[in-house]
Amino acid sequence: MQSPLSIAIDGPASSGKGTVARMVAHALNLSYVDTGAMYRSVGLRALELGIRTTDGPAVGALAASLNFAFSWDGARLRVAVDGEDLTKAIRTERVGQAASDVAVLVEVRAALLELQRELAKNGAVLDGRDIGTVVLPDADLKVYLDASPEVRASRRRDELAARGDHRPLEAVLRDILARDAQDSGREHAPLCAAADAVRIDSTHRTPQQVVTEILRLAGQIGGVSAPTT
Ligand code: DC
Repeated sequence: MQSPLSIAIDGPASSGKGTVARMVAHALNLSYVDTGAMYRSVGLRALELGIRTTDGPAVGALAASLNFAFSWDGARLRVAVDGEDLTKAIRTERVGQAASDVAVLVEVRAALLELQRELAKNGAVLDGRDIGTVVLPDADLKVYLDASPEVRASRRRDELAARGDHRPLEAVLRDILARDAQDSGREHAPLCAAADAVRIDSTHRTPQQVVTEILRLAGQIGGVSAPTT
């Protein structure tokens, strides 16, 4: 029997990882693990509990204590923590920034690492910043998905606007660049492409075009036949 397929998709904020990872998982009948949602949940809980997002031991203990549950509601992945649905609450800019802040902490990364590996055990598509480099260094396929900062900012602005949070493009771009700098400049598990990752630029491609490319790559490994649609 073939071992289950693991696919790592890394890249900066709003490069399209989530959309693409979800579609690839669906096409290959694999589960999808949104590791950013975990960091966001830790960030949100830290804000709610008044724990400083720079306090490694305290935020690490918090991360280790959380009980994550992912479920699929047909259209999107739902994230619950200790029984409370946080799917919507974790998508704000404030929580995104808190997620990036707590993601710097080695204690937090250590607390989430084993859980992420456990979730990938039976085959999965994982997206994040360090999946191909740290979480699943032996993933069957590693993709590094990027896009120009301007296009990423405009995607993020539209996403926020759809949720009623209207922001000027320049402000969103500034936040994205600051987040990129923090995520790639940190000491532990920084955002970077694994040496064996396939780089895909989504600046001028639709999610479906990127998915088709990933399925083609997946079809080249382990005898998995990629769907034609
Ligand atoms: O992908 P996202 O925007 O939901 O991620 C939120 C933050 O979480 C991101 O700025 C950095 C952090 N993160 C990380 O450090 N490692 C991961 N594997 C996933 C996310």
